Parts: sequence; C-alpha cells; structure tokens
Amino acid sequence: MNFIPYGRQDITEADIEAVVRVLRSDFLTQGPAVEIFEAAVCRETGAQHAVACSSGTAALHLAVLAAKIGHGDRVIVPPITFVASANCARYAGAEVLFADIDSETLNISPQTCRKLLEQAVVEGRPVKAVVTVDLAGHPCDMQAFALLKKEFNFIWIQDACHSLGATWEDNLGIRWKIGEWPEPDMTVFSFHPVKHITTGEGGMIVTHSEELANSLRVHRSHGIVRDVGAFINNAEALSADGSVNPWYYEMQQLGFNYRLSDIQAALGCSQIERLGQYVARRREIAASLRLKFEMFPRVKLPIVADGVEHAYHLCIIRIDFAAVGATRAEVMKRLKAAGIGTQVHYIPIPMMPFYAQTADMASFPAALAYYREALSIPCFPKMTDVDVERVCSAVISTLS
Ligand SMILES: Cc1ncc(COP(=O)(O)O)c(C=O)c1O
Repeated sequence: MNFIPYGRQDITEADIEAVVRVLRSDFLTQGPAVEIFEAAVCRETGAQHAVACSSGTAALHLAVLAAKIGHGDRVIVPPITFVASANCARYAGAEVLFADIDSETLNISPQTCRKLLEQAVVEGRPVKAVVTVDLAGHPCDMQAFALLKKEFNFIWIQDACHSLGATWEDNLGIRWKIGEWPEPDMTVFSFHPVKHITTGEGGMIVTHSEELANSLRVHRSHGIVRDVGAFINNAEALSADGSVNPWYYEMQQLGFNYRLSDIQAALGCSQIERLGQYVARRREIAASLRLKFEMFPRVKLPIVADGVEHAYHLCIIRIDFAAVGATRAEVMKRLKAAGIGTQVHYIPIPMMPFYAQTADMASFPAALAYYREALSIPCFPKMTDVDVERVCSAVISTLS
C-alpha cells in the first residue's frame, strides 16, 4: 500500500533533461535560465516584472526591503499562515500586528484589518504595509483590500505562495489572474516542492512597478549596482576617457545573496509549462472530494467565494473533533496507519512562543476556532482517482 502524503512534487523526464542541460552549460548560478523563468512567470501571471529568488521567504523579505519597511514601522499580517509571512517584517525590525481571519474564506478579514488600520491612525503610528495571504489557494478579498489601501495608503504585499494559478472576478465581471491586477504592490510566490510548481527551493516577486522591480533585483544580490549611469562614485567608476572601469561595481544598499540558480530556474521553466494542467487536476481532485464528502456532515469543506477559481494548493477540511469523539492527533495517527498523510495549516502565529509575548490569541477568535478544526488532506496533481477514493474512504471510516 503506497503512502499518500498531503502534498508532493511531480518531476518528469523533461524536467530532469532541462536541469541536466544547464549542468552542462556555462551557468550554474543566476544566468540566462533565470531570466527565461522570470519571463515565463510574467507570461503566466500577466505581471509586468518578475524577480526570481532563492525561496518564498526570501521573496517576502525582498518585498519588505523594496518597500523600505524598517524599524518602527507596523505591518499587518493574518494569524493563520506560515510564519514566513510575519517574519519578513520582523527581519526588517518592523512590528507585526495580526488581523483576525474571515471565518468563511479563512483569509485575513478586511473588517478586522480596517479596525487595526483605524486604531493605528488614532495612535499616531499608521500601518506601513499589509501582507495578505491567499490561504490554501483562495484569493483574499482583493477589491476590499484595494479600497483599504486607497483609504489608508499602505503598501500591499500579497503573499500568493498558495495561489499561483488562481483567478477571481471583479465587480465589473473582469477575471484576473493572481499577479495580473496592479493594485497589490508586490505579489510573492514560492516554488517549494509542495507548491503548484517547484524549483526545489525558490521564490518570485511579481510587480507592475519598474522601480520596485529594480530595487528587488539590487537587494537580491548584495545591494550591488552594476548599471552605468546608476553609480554614485563616478570618480572611481569612470576612466579618464569617460568609459566605465571594467572591474567596477558599487554596493549601495545592505542586500543579501537571495539569487536563484540557473539549475533551479531550468526546473522552474520546465515545470511552468504544466502549470495549467496541474491547477486543473487540483481542482478536479477538490471537486471529487467535495462530491464524496457531500453526504458526510462530519467533514466541513472549504468555502469558495463567488467569482473565485481556487488553486487548491491545500485541501483543508474542518472537523469538530469533540463531536467525533477523537482528538485530532488520534485521527491523524489512524489516517497515517491507513497510509494517508495529513497536516495542520497552520498553528496560529500568535501562539508561537516568539510572537506570544506581543500577541494574545484571545484577540483572534476566528483563527482559534479554525485552528481547532483544521486538517489538510492529500491534494496534489499526481494523485490518481484511486488515491482520491482511498483518502475519502479512510477519512470517512476514521471519523465514523
Ligand atoms: C503562505 C506562505 N508564505 C511563505 C512561505 C515561504 O515559502 P518558502 O518555503 O519557499 O520559503 C510559505 C511556504 O510554505 C507559505 O506557505
């Protein structure tokens, strides 16, 4: 009996050949394959600029740096997400404020966010940025956050690590891909193996702002500038005849080495060709799970808002464990014994000891209620229909 994890990558022979081709080429670190991958992500998302980097976490950190977020600034983040969504603000010395989730979509609630934004204005320390997260692949309430941004003038970083390939419809009936709509200042993707496409480790920021894209690129590579015309110390940069000295570069910011390698980008280029196919299969699996659990009231299925085409990075079901008469740990163990992997996405960040001193879980009732019931069950493109059937039967028999 094969074990079905909650998520896993799909690597084809074409992927392997693409990586081997780069291994035989002149470039191993960032080179032409990275640029090709960035162009492919622009094409797939409809974004104008894409900046590849070493992970989704690095992408979030770069977004914070490009947004000039620093000490004393305040950043709003939802409590239900991976810790990286909040950590990026702390890397820059900013304060993290958590805004509770909407108990239907499980994404950051525009209403709770508004309350924090208003309170911050009253306190004389307005919020500098909001990080929204498209939990499990369901886009956040995009238009509500665009309106809040207009009113409160914050930088909007969209953590779309779960939602590559999702779409949503605005109130004029226009359908947008994640990354296409220019209202979020920056949109961040991860290419970790359980995500829609993988580069092993890897991430990308897409934006419609050339200025932000340039800043992201500079911060990605040590804060170093190599462009003629962008130098500050021209006396050192230029020869007597006005040409640039061939060895010259300038470090103008405190940047990092967050580059993606060409080896990884080659895998990304090969994988992205199957993005549409992958997302379609995830939707098919989710539809099939929905159908099978329809008659089983012990499992609550995720809500999909009107106009949203979910990307189903995760399939999170909700279970009232007390009503079932088993703890979540017991259910997870039983499912594991049946060859089914599950996980909890996520432990609320304010519960983490690092954040617990500055945030009180009592302020996040929706996040807490969700956390008590959440269980991610397998959902990944290579699952067969038989696997889907096995997952459903095992969940139903475990909870019955
Ligand atoms: C919502 C969210 N943001 C950020 C990240 C960080 O991405 P990475 O693992 O590529 O650093 C993840 C990773 O799982 C995530 O789920």
